[in-house]
Amino acid sequence: MSSLVITIDGPAASGKSTVARLLAERLGASFLDTGAMYRAVTLAAIEAGVDMNDEDKLPGVLDNRKFQFAVREGKMVVCIDGLDVTEQIRSQEVTANARYVASAAKLREKLVEMQRQFAAREKKIVVEGRDQGTVAFPDAGVKFYLTADATERAKRRQIELRARGSSENLDQIQNAIEERDKSDEDRAVGPLKPAEDAIVIDTTDLSIEEVVEKLLRYVEERCQKRNQK
Ligand code: C5P
Repeated sequence: MSSLVITIDGPAASGKSTVARLLAERLGASFLDTGAMYRAVTLAAIEAGVDMNDEDKLPGVLDNRKFQFAVREGKMVVCIDGLDVTEQIRSQEVTANARYVASAAKLREKLVEMQRQFAAREKKIVVEGRDQGTVAFPDAGVKFYLTADATERAKRRQIELRARGSSENLDQIQNAIEERDKSDEDRAVGPLKPAEDAIVIDTTDLSIEEVVEKLLRYVEERCQKRNQK
């Protein structure tokens, strides 16, 4: 069982993945990008031609293919039936369709169970997503919720997308981000929201390094308190 679970939740493009990876590196911990799991199932559902609105068909997608999630050289690698789909799951088609998979209750239960099993194998782990502090790990040692203003998040996403050759303008990116936030906040299962005991950090005016340093200080503080008990 993990001795330390740190959760980072927050809206799209709030910097969770990068921060989780860097924080894990600084702590000598593993990390899990749970969005990659929703994306992988979405890709498999698209490939299988499953009707995305048919909630009952979606859990079958997880059962019918072999999904592997592993951290290699500090990077989350995703394979389906042995094929590396790490890049493919970042496509716009997958991003746009992930909301259907994310709203399917039975499928979420299965993914949350996989997340807990993944974490149980690690001594220390940083997990990031939308429901990590609320549903997957309610007893986590430290919980964070990262926010940032939507325009700033759109700018950050634009830099990422440009590096991958996409030329979407800022308004298009911001609209897509806001739509995704709304769908994540409004769904009945595992909605996007801060856990009651989460430390909420607005990263709008902070660099990635500043966010990581801030989180690290909170983690060290919590661990010291825990050791004094
Ligand atoms: O974080 P990322 O953008 O890669 O996540 C892709 C999608 O997966 C999100 O838009 C969200 O709908 C879903 N997701 C989720 N719960 C998580 C992680 C991601 O519903 N814990």
